[in-house]
Amino acid sequence: MRKNILLIGFMGVGKGALARELVRCDSSLYALDTDDMIESMTNTRIKKIFATAGEEAFRALEQKTAQWLADNVSSAVISTGGGFYKVKNIKDIGTVVYLKADFQWILQRILNAPNAKKKLKKRPLFQDVKRARTLFNSRYEEYEKVADIVMDVMHKDREELAKELLGKLVVSR
Ligand code: S3P
Repeated sequence: MRKNILLIGFMGVGKGALARELVRCDSSLYALDTDDMIESMTNTRIKKIFATAGEEAFRALEQKTAQWLADNVSSAVISTGGGFYKVKNIKDIGTVVYLKADFQWILQRILNAPNAKKKLKKRPLFQDVKRARTLFNSRYEEYEKVADIVMDVMHKDREELAKELLGKLVVSR
């Protein structure tokens, strides 16, 4: 059974975009996204889950998703929500790849996106830049500790990143 590739990292770093590019480069893979899975499982938007059930309930849904992925999925590239790295069984899901960038770069990437307002609106933990920066500072070392592979994603285009990562995975498998 071929292992999954799990992309972790802060909100807005480009996990979903890289997942889609990896699938374009390697047709034996398919892409999943943990936030999308949670939204379809609950039939509720992430923003609403945070507003009505709260963050703790959302983290429990992430843990449930992690268990399901570990038990049922292989050969997928899985983009994750920025806090998914905290699930207990992350290593059972696949090779964990941290997309590393500094906060300022991430902020610029979000603000430069054509649909920046919409992208920010759907992220309850990125409503305030100061608080998002504090969250980033509390997490970046943790991401690195959990990861099997760390990829510096700043100033590289998606295609370049996908090729670099697929090369690293061949070596590590
Ligand atoms: C979160 C990141 C979000 C989403 C939720 C919580 C986080 O996903 O899972 O709003 O804790 O960092 P993205 O990283 O795709 O924005």
